[in-house]
Amino acid sequence: MIKIDKVSFSYGTRSVLHNVSLDIHKGEIVSLIGPNGAGKSTLLLIAMGLLSPQQGNIRVNNRLLKEWSSRDFAQYCAFVPQNPYLPPAFTIWESVLLGRTPYLNFLGLARKKDREIVKQALRWVEIENLLHRKVSEISGGERQRVVLARALAQEPECLFLDEPTNSLDVHHQVTLLSFIHRLAEEKQVTVFIVLHDLNLASTFSDRLILLEDGLVVLDGTPGQVMGNEKVLSVYRQSITVFNRPDEESRPAVLPVRMYDK
Ligand SMILES: Nc1ncnc2c1ncn2[C@@H]1O[C@H](COP(=O)(O)OP(=O)(O)OP(=O)(O)O)[C@@H](O)[C@H]1O
Ligand SMILES: [Mg+2]
Repeated sequence: MIKIDKVSFSYGTRSVLHNVSLDIHKGEIVSLIGPNGAGKSTLLLIAMGLLSPQQGNIRVNNRLLKEWSSRDFAQYCAFVPQNPYLPPAFTIWESVLLGRTPYLNFLGLARKKDREIVKQALRWVEIENLLHRKVSEISGGERQRVVLARALAQEPECLFLDEPTNSLDVHHQVTLLSFIHRLAEEKQVTVFIVLHDLNLASTFSDRLILLEDGLVVLDGTPGQVMGNEKVLSVYRQSITVFNRPDEESRPAVLPVRMYDK
Protein backbone atom coordinates (compact mmCIF):
# COMPACT_ATOMS: atom_id res chain seq x y z
CA MET A 1 0.00 0.00 0.00
CA ILE A 2 2.70 2.52 1.05
CA LYS A 3 6.21 1.67 -0.06
CA ILE A 4 9.04 3.91 1.07
CA ASP A 5 12.18 2.95 -0.79
CA LYS A 6 15.70 4.05 0.23
CA VAL A 7 14.66 7.57 1.13
CA SER A 8 17.26 10.15 2.19
CA PHE A 9 16.40 13.74 2.98
CA SER A 10 18.17 16.93 4.10
CA TYR A 11 16.84 20.35 5.07
CA GLY A 12 19.57 22.38 3.32
CA THR A 13 22.80 20.95 4.70
CA ARG A 14 21.10 19.26 7.68
CA SER A 15 20.77 15.61 6.85
CA VAL A 16 17.62 14.24 8.54
CA LEU A 17 16.74 10.85 6.99
CA HIS A 18 19.22 8.21 5.83
CA ASN A 19 18.27 5.45 3.44
CA VAL A 20 14.90 4.70 5.04
CA SER A 21 12.89 1.81 3.59
CA LEU A 22 9.48 0.73 4.86
CA ASP A 23 6.49 -1.18 3.57
CA ILE A 24 3.09 -0.53 5.08
CA HIS A 25 0.37 -2.97 4.11
CA LYS A 26 -3.30 -2.38 3.51
CA GLY A 27 -5.28 -2.20 6.73
CA GLU A 28 -2.16 -2.07 8.89
CA ILE A 29 -1.55 0.39 11.72
CA VAL A 30 2.11 1.35 11.80
CA SER A 31 3.34 3.70 14.50
CA LEU A 32 6.48 5.75 14.18
CA ILE A 33 8.16 6.29 17.55
CA GLY A 34 11.44 7.91 18.54
CA PRO A 35 12.91 10.93 20.34
CA ASN A 36 12.30 14.58 19.48
CA GLY A 37 14.08 15.52 16.28
CA ALA A 38 14.50 11.90 15.09
CA GLY A 39 12.82 12.72 11.76
CA LYS A 40 9.32 11.29 12.34
CA SER A 41 7.30 14.27 11.07
CA THR A 42 9.70 14.67 8.16
CA LEU A 43 9.20 11.04 7.15
CA LEU A 44 5.43 11.42 7.33
CA LEU A 45 5.55 14.57 5.16
CA ILE A 46 7.71 12.74 2.63
CA ALA A 47 5.40 9.71 2.60
CA MET A 48 2.55 12.08 1.70
CA GLY A 49 4.48 13.94 -0.97
CA LEU A 50 4.50 17.22 0.98
CA LEU A 51 8.31 17.14 0.95
CA SER A 52 10.44 15.61 -1.81
CA PRO A 53 13.36 13.41 -0.84
CA GLN A 54 16.77 14.01 -2.46
CA GLN A 55 17.07 10.23 -2.89
CA GLY A 56 14.67 7.33 -3.06
CA ASN A 57 10.99 7.23 -3.86
CA ILE A 58 7.55 6.51 -2.48
CA ARG A 59 4.76 4.47 -3.97
CA VAL A 60 1.20 4.59 -2.75
CA ASN A 61 -1.00 1.82 -4.09
CA ASN A 62 1.79 0.88 -6.55
CA ARG A 63 1.92 4.36 -8.07
CA LEU A 64 4.81 6.76 -7.60
CA LEU A 65 3.72 9.91 -5.76
CA LYS A 66 4.44 12.09 -8.78
CA GLU A 67 1.94 10.04 -10.81
CA TRP A 68 -0.96 11.05 -8.55
CA SER A 69 -3.06 14.14 -9.25
CA SER A 70 -3.60 16.20 -6.10
CA ARG A 71 -7.39 15.63 -6.25
CA ASP A 72 -7.03 11.84 -6.54
CA PHE A 73 -4.47 11.80 -3.75
CA ALA A 74 -6.73 13.87 -1.47
CA GLN A 75 -9.55 11.39 -2.05
CA TYR A 76 -7.22 8.55 -1.20
CA CYS A 77 -5.12 9.87 1.70
CA ALA A 78 -5.87 12.24 4.56
CA PHE A 79 -3.43 13.94 6.91
CA VAL A 80 -3.68 15.13 10.49
CA PRO A 81 -0.58 17.33 10.97
CA GLN A 82 1.32 17.94 14.22
CA ASN A 83 0.40 21.66 14.22
CA PRO A 84 -2.75 21.94 12.13
CA TYR A 85 -4.04 25.26 10.89
CA LEU A 86 -7.76 25.95 11.06
CA PRO A 87 -9.17 29.33 9.95
CA PRO A 88 -10.22 30.87 13.32
CA ALA A 89 -13.37 32.54 11.97
CA PHE A 90 -14.71 29.25 10.53
CA THR A 91 -17.34 27.30 12.43
CA ILE A 92 -16.66 23.66 13.28
CA TRP A 93 -19.17 22.64 10.61
CA GLU A 94 -17.36 24.69 7.94
CA SER A 95 -13.98 23.38 9.07
CA VAL A 96 -15.00 19.73 8.78
CA LEU A 97 -16.80 20.38 5.48
CA LEU A 98 -13.36 21.37 4.11
CA GLY A 99 -12.60 17.64 4.17
CA ARG A 100 -15.11 17.21 1.35
CA THR A 101 -13.25 19.64 -0.96
CA PRO A 102 -11.67 16.87 -3.11
CA TYR A 103 -15.17 15.55 -3.90
CA LEU A 104 -16.98 18.79 -4.72
CA ASN A 105 -17.90 19.68 -8.28
CA PHE A 106 -16.57 22.77 -10.04
CA LEU A 107 -19.21 24.95 -8.37
CA GLY A 108 -17.92 23.82 -4.98
CA LEU A 109 -21.41 23.06 -3.68
CA ALA A 110 -21.88 20.45 -0.96
CA ARG A 111 -24.51 17.83 -1.77
CA LYS A 112 -26.74 16.00 0.71
CA LYS A 113 -24.26 13.10 0.73
CA ASP A 114 -21.40 15.47 1.66
CA ARG A 115 -23.43 16.90 4.54
CA GLU A 116 -24.29 13.40 5.79
CA ILE A 117 -20.62 12.40 5.77
CA VAL A 118 -19.66 15.55 7.69
CA LYS A 119 -22.35 14.85 10.29
CA GLN A 120 -21.10 11.29 10.64
CA ALA A 121 -17.49 12.47 11.07
CA LEU A 122 -18.59 14.92 13.78
CA ARG A 123 -20.42 12.11 15.60
CA TRP A 124 -17.44 9.77 15.34
CA VAL A 125 -15.18 12.18 17.24
CA GLU A 126 -18.00 13.26 19.57
CA ILE A 127 -18.10 16.94 18.67
CA GLU A 128 -21.54 17.20 17.07
CA ASN A 129 -22.50 19.57 19.93
CA LEU A 130 -19.85 22.08 18.75
CA LEU A 131 -21.22 22.42 15.24
CA HIS A 132 -21.96 26.16 15.35
CA ARG A 133 -19.01 27.17 17.51
CA LYS A 134 -16.09 29.11 15.95
CA VAL A 135 -12.64 27.53 15.78
CA SER A 136 -11.34 30.38 17.99
CA GLU A 137 -13.84 29.38 20.71
CA ILE A 138 -12.91 25.75 21.37
CA SER A 139 -10.25 23.98 23.48
CA GLY A 140 -7.00 22.42 22.22
CA GLY A 141 -8.33 18.88 22.50
CA GLU A 142 -11.58 19.79 20.74
CA ARG A 143 -9.54 21.40 18.00
CA GLN A 144 -7.55 18.22 17.55
CA ARG A 145 -10.79 16.27 17.16
CA VAL A 146 -12.07 18.79 14.58
CA VAL A 147 -8.94 18.15 12.52
CA LEU A 148 -9.47 14.40 12.78
CA ALA A 149 -13.13 14.81 11.75
CA ARG A 150 -11.99 16.85 8.73
CA ALA A 151 -9.62 14.02 7.75
CA LEU A 152 -12.36 11.38 8.22
CA ALA A 153 -14.73 13.42 6.07
CA GLN A 154 -12.28 12.80 3.22
CA GLU A 155 -13.21 9.09 3.45
CA PRO A 156 -9.56 8.17 2.99
CA GLU A 157 -8.10 4.75 2.34
CA CYS A 158 -4.93 5.80 4.07
CA LEU A 159 -4.59 8.03 7.04
CA PHE A 160 -1.42 9.85 8.12
CA LEU A 161 -1.49 11.23 11.64
CA ASP A 162 1.22 13.19 13.46
CA GLU A 163 0.79 12.96 17.24
CA PRO A 164 -3.03 13.14 17.08
CA THR A 165 -3.53 12.34 20.76
CA ASN A 166 -1.28 14.99 22.30
CA SER A 167 -3.84 17.34 23.80
CA LEU A 168 -6.46 14.71 24.48
CA ASP A 169 -7.59 13.37 27.84
CA VAL A 170 -7.27 9.63 28.35
CA HIS A 171 -10.87 8.92 27.31
CA HIS A 172 -10.50 10.79 24.04
CA GLN A 173 -7.05 9.28 23.40
CA VAL A 174 -8.49 5.79 23.70
CA THR A 175 -11.68 6.70 21.81
CA LEU A 176 -9.69 8.17 18.93
CA LEU A 177 -7.26 5.26 18.64
CA SER A 178 -9.99 2.65 19.10
CA PHE A 179 -11.90 4.30 16.32
CA ILE A 180 -8.84 4.28 14.07
CA HIS A 181 -8.28 0.63 14.96
CA ARG A 182 -11.84 -0.13 13.85
CA LEU A 183 -11.35 1.74 10.58
CA ALA A 184 -8.25 -0.34 9.90
CA GLU A 185 -9.92 -3.61 10.80
CA GLU A 186 -13.35 -3.14 9.23
CA LYS A 187 -12.62 -0.84 6.31
CA GLN A 188 -9.00 -1.83 5.71
CA VAL A 189 -7.85 1.78 6.08
CA THR A 190 -4.04 1.94 6.20
CA VAL A 191 -2.73 4.02 9.09
CA PHE A 192 0.73 5.60 9.45
CA ILE A 193 0.88 7.44 12.74
CA VAL A 194 3.45 9.25 14.89
CA LEU A 195 2.92 8.59 18.60
CA HIS A 196 5.03 9.67 21.56
CA ASP A 197 3.09 7.68 24.11
CA LEU A 198 4.71 4.24 24.04
CA ASN A 199 1.80 2.60 25.86
CA LEU A 200 -0.74 3.88 23.36
CA ALA A 201 1.58 2.84 20.53
CA SER A 202 1.93 -0.64 22.02
CA THR A 203 -1.81 -0.99 22.65
CA PHE A 204 -3.06 0.08 19.23
CA SER A 205 -0.38 -0.70 16.62
CA ASP A 206 0.26 -3.74 14.47
CA ARG A 207 3.87 -2.63 14.04
CA LEU A 208 6.21 -0.11 15.64
CA ILE A 209 9.05 1.61 13.83
CA LEU A 210 11.70 3.13 16.11
CA LEU A 211 13.53 6.01 14.45
CA GLU A 212 16.78 7.53 15.75
CA ASP A 213 18.65 10.32 13.98
CA GLY A 214 16.90 9.51 10.72
CA LEU A 215 17.64 5.78 10.81
CA VAL A 216 15.22 2.91 11.35
CA VAL A 217 16.58 1.18 14.45
CA LEU A 218 13.77 -1.31 15.06
CA ASP A 219 10.78 -2.47 13.03
CA GLY A 220 8.54 -5.11 14.59
CA THR A 221 5.49 -5.99 16.63
CA PRO A 222 4.91 -4.15 19.93
CA GLY A 223 6.23 -7.22 21.78
CA GLN A 224 9.42 -7.33 19.71
CA VAL A 225 10.13 -3.60 19.93
CA MET A 226 9.17 -2.81 23.54
CA GLY A 227 11.22 -5.71 24.86
CA ASN A 228 14.32 -4.62 22.95
CA GLU A 229 17.15 -2.91 24.87
CA LYS A 230 17.65 -0.45 22.04
CA VAL A 231 14.51 1.41 23.14
CA LEU A 232 16.33 2.42 26.34
CA SER A 233 19.48 3.59 24.58
CA VAL A 234 17.61 5.49 21.87
CA TYR A 235 15.55 7.46 24.42
CA ARG A 236 18.47 7.66 26.90
CA GLN A 237 15.93 6.79 29.54
CA SER A 238 15.53 3.79 31.81
CA ILE A 239 12.14 2.18 31.55
CA THR A 240 10.58 -0.93 33.01
CA VAL A 241 8.69 -3.17 30.61
CA PHE A 242 5.72 -5.11 31.97
CA ASN A 243 3.87 -7.97 30.36
CA ARG A 244 0.14 -7.37 30.58
CA PRO A 245 -2.08 -10.26 31.58
CA ASP A 246 -4.90 -8.91 29.37
CA GLU A 247 -2.79 -8.31 26.25
CA GLU A 248 0.28 -10.54 26.27
CA SER A 249 1.63 -9.35 22.94
CA ARG A 250 1.34 -5.67 23.89
CA PRO A 251 3.71 -4.83 26.75
CA ALA A 252 3.35 -1.72 28.89
CA VAL A 253 6.22 0.55 29.93
CA LEU A 254 6.85 2.84 32.87
CA PRO A 255 9.73 5.30 33.22
CA VAL A 256 12.27 4.88 36.01
CA ARG A 257 12.68 8.04 38.11
CA MET A 258 15.95 9.92 37.71
CA TYR A 259 18.11 11.75 40.30
CA ASP A 260 17.06 9.44 43.16
CA LYS A 261 19.53 8.85 45.98
N1 LIG B 1 11.80 23.20 8.14
C1 LIG B 1 12.94 22.76 8.70
N2 LIG B 1 14.13 23.31 8.35
C2 LIG B 1 15.28 22.85 8.89
N3 LIG B 1 15.35 21.85 9.78
C3 LIG B 1 14.21 21.27 10.16
C4 LIG B 1 12.94 21.70 9.65
N4 LIG B 1 11.96 20.94 10.20
C5 LIG B 1 12.61 20.08 11.05
N5 LIG B 1 13.93 20.27 11.02
C6 LIG B 1 14.97 19.50 11.75
O1 LIG B 1 14.94 18.17 11.23
C7 LIG B 1 15.07 17.23 12.28
C8 LIG B 1 13.88 16.29 12.25
O2 LIG B 1 12.70 17.04 12.53
P1 LIG B 1 11.27 16.35 12.65
O3 LIG B 1 10.29 17.44 12.81
O4 LIG B 1 11.09 15.42 11.52
O5 LIG B 1 11.46 15.53 14.01
P2 LIG B 1 10.39 14.69 14.85
O6 LIG B 1 10.96 13.32 15.02
O7 LIG B 1 9.05 14.82 14.27
O8 LIG B 1 10.47 15.43 16.27
P3 LIG B 1 9.30 15.75 17.35
O9 LIG B 1 9.13 14.49 18.15
O10 LIG B 1 9.92 16.82 18.18
O11 LIG B 1 8.08 16.20 16.64
C9 LIG B 1 15.24 18.04 13.57
O12 LIG B 1 16.60 18.15 13.84
C10 LIG B 1 14.65 19.38 13.22
O13 LIG B 1 15.29 20.39 13.97
MG1 LIG C 1 7.28 15.72 14.87
